[in-house]
Amino acid sequence: MLVLLKRDSEEISRQAAQLVAGAVRKKPGLVLGLATGGTMVDVYKHLVQLHKEGSLDFSRVVTFNLDEYLGLPATHSQSFHYFMREHFFSRVNVNPRNIHIPDGTIQGNYDQYCASFEEDIRKAGGIDLQILGIGRNGHIGFNEPTSSLASRTRLKVLSQETMDDNAKSFAPGEERPRCAITMGIGTILEARKIILLATGAAKAAAVAKSIEGPIASAVSASVLQLHPEVTFIVDEQAASQLTQREYYRRVLEMTALLTPDRLS
Ligand code: PGA
Repeated sequence: MLVLLKRDSEEISRQAAQLVAGAVRKKPGLVLGLATGGTMVDVYKHLVQLHKEGSLDFSRVVTFNLDEYLGLPATHSQSFHYFMREHFFSRVNVNPRNIHIPDGTIQGNYDQYCASFEEDIRKAGGIDLQILGIGRNGHIGFNEPTSSLASRTRLKVLSQETMDDNAKSFAPGEERPRCAITMGIGTILEARKIILLATGAAKAAAVAKSIEGPIASAVSASVLQLHPEVTFIVDEQAASQLTQREYYRRVLEMTALLTPDRLS
């Protein structure tokens, strides 16, 4: 595990975009796992910028998004389909046929739908690089606390904390989603490489438990300790409860010196 300590969200989003760009340049047909949420907005902004400058071609990239709210159509302004279109897909040249986002409008037969989403990932050759945010409660995707660490794509009931965090995005009186379709923790762990981004003091406890705490279903992101190629990129506030910051800095220095490929 690598822990990159950055000053603020601008540095984090720039670094994350560079890592994604590097991966796409190395493998133009990259299978890229994508996330939504406030932390991701500037990552997409930088990727769009690189594309507009002509240095990044997404035409062969295949994308899989982590999750979508159940009950929200792609046209709903709070749906993750809408988020992805607004911030990324309408601004770059990803082939629409290569875009996969769980469908929030399915009704019944959830297991069959989720199995077909997993099958699509398999057919694409598996996810090469997965980008993750993290919830205040340590969730990745919508794998809420106590999710099975072996879980696959499925219907998941949102925790109260997640519903509270997301409530601010919905108009007063508007019905808010209580469930989502999300990749499972087992699905996420199969990605060949994982980057998790976290900014702000509200994420500090979740970040510390995920990196330095025991692996526990109470903190879904802690399972990333089992993954051989995961990089946490966190700002000063999100890193504030980590006890081994000095060690992470030294690891980074030595990695840059001895195995710089690990950082690109
Ligand atoms: P955020 O969401 O980037 O909006 O904080 C992260 C998450 O809940 O995974």
